[in-house]
Amino acid sequence: MRIICTDNYEQMSKKAANIVASQIILKPNSVLGLATGSTPIGMYKQLIKTYKDGHIDFEEVTTFNLDEYYGLNKQNEQSYYYYMYENFFKYINIDMNKVNIPDGTAVNIDSECLEYERKIRNCGGIDLQVLGIGTNGHIGFNEPDIKFEALTHIVELDEQTIKDNSRFFNSIKDVPTKAISMGIKTIMRAKKIILLASGIEKSDAIYKAIYGKITPNLPASVLQLHPDVTFILDKDAASKLN
Ligand code: F6R
Repeated sequence: MRIICTDNYEQMSKKAANIVASQIILKPNSVLGLATGSTPIGMYKQLIKTYKDGHIDFEEVTTFNLDEYYGLNKQNEQSYYYYMYENFFKYINIDMNKVNIPDGTAVNIDSECLEYERKIRNCGGIDLQVLGIGTNGHIGFNEPDIKFEALTHIVELDEQTIKDNSRFFNSIKDVPTKAISMGIKTIMRAKKIILLASGIEKSDAIYKAIYGKITPNLPASVLQLHPDVTFILDKDAASKLN
């Protein structure tokens, strides 16, 4: 495990964007695993700049997002599809046929989940997975539990996650209570992983993920077992580490 501590959010975002850009330069047809939420916004902005400056090309890149709210369609402004399009995809030359995000409105959720796994496998697996972390230690929407859920699945969101994410909605009542998420095995199969965290409210989860017991009760702790994982933190998120 590598830990990169940066001074602030901007530095964290630049380091993360540089790692993603290097991945694409080294392998133009990379398969990227992507995250939403507030943390990676700066990284996406930086990648857009790197693209506009002519240093990277997304034409051959395939992407798989970690998760999507259950019940929200692509047009819904709170959906992760909408987020990805508005914050990233519309500014770069990605082929939208190579963009994959779980369908939150799928009628048959079980087959949607199986199909998502099949697509990842058929693309040769994820080369680089970008993760954020919940204040409760979740990755993707793998919430604290008594067991690790292996593959893409439907999940009941944790009370803490609903509270944390209510900042994006008009009212807490509007936050979906379920989501479709890649599982822990899906994430752990990625060849490389970077996890981004910023802010004091993430410091406890970061400390436990890095130094705590490996337990499904703090899902990010499983990353201790991954052979190529890098935590990219700002000063506040790293503040409990020493
Ligand atoms: C988002 C995701 C989540 C977020 C986490 C942190 O696709 O999978 O695990 O990364 O909830 O969210 P922010 O960055 O908003 O604090």
